Amino acid sequence: MAFGQQRIEYKTNEQMRLMAASGQLLSRALDTTLAAVRPGITTLELDGIFADVLAASGSVSNFLGYSGYPASICTSVNEEVVHGIPSDRPLQAGDILSVDGGAVLQGWHSDSARTVIVGGQAAADPDDQRLSDLTEESLWRGIAALAAASHVGEIGAAIDDYVSAAPGPALGILQDYVGHGIGTAMHMPPDVLNYRTSSKGPRVRPGLCLAIEPMLVRGGLETHVLADDWTVVTADGARAAHWEHSVAVHEAGIWVLTAADGGASRLAPLGVIPTPIP
Ligand code: MF3
Ligand code: CO
Repeated sequence: MAFGQQRIEYKTNEQMRLMAASGQLLSRALDTTLAAVRPGITTLELDGIFADVLAASGSVSNFLGYSGYPASICTSVNEEVVHGIPSDRPLQAGDILSVDGGAVLQGWHSDSARTVIVGGQAAADPDDQRLSDLTEESLWRGIAALAAASHVGEIGAAIDDYVSAAPGPALGILQDYVGHGIGTAMHMPPDVLNYRTSSKGPRVRPGLCLAIEPMLVRGGLETHVLADDWTVVTADGARAAHWEHSVAVHEAGIWVLTAADGGASRLAPLGVIPTPIP
């Protein structure tokens, strides 16, 4: 074990069922928020919509106040990769927007992100749509790998293999930011890399809950943080996409905590059937 490596929090089934409730609420809040995306709406308005859905169920964003973060969601537009702060900037048709949100319910955290093109497919640069689609599918490949994995490193290997083999222009997998364990806090050990390394990572066993969150770019991997201390942008201005789910490993299988169907529809083509937490 590396010096400074912290212990992983393994959950009981009862605790994972509470995490599933947090995740389902988050999924509904993201549904409502994403449904409101259209040209002219501001990312601050989206932030309010998201916060209202959580509040109606007695929940609050775990982003708000996290290390001083000033909003309930992250809204990252175009060359912004992650951690974009909602503002009064109106969205424009053809913008690529990632909405990243988290909820805490009865002390249990969830974290999930989705990317959309403002104005839909008709307004989209096909290369942006492809970027988002490949990022989303790479997330599902990582989740499917977790279902059969003995070690956490197999997730990043599956994401990397899928992205590397995709036909068409090469996309980059960001390395500066990674996924994480999740449970009684939003960010917990272990790190969940989105790329293949020589390290196998920790062993996968029941009670492990991970936020898997590939970030793909159409250009180089170098990023900068803006003067607001949060917004991560690509150094070359190339566009980025980000998809994320929180996933539980239990004795009978895996369950995608932040997907309405536990991941069933997206995992079936990959030969994985998620199982509700016993
Ligand atoms: N999904 C994001 C992450 O894991 C959540 C960031 S919350 C913030 O990095 F408050 F730090 F923005
Ligand atoms: Co996260």
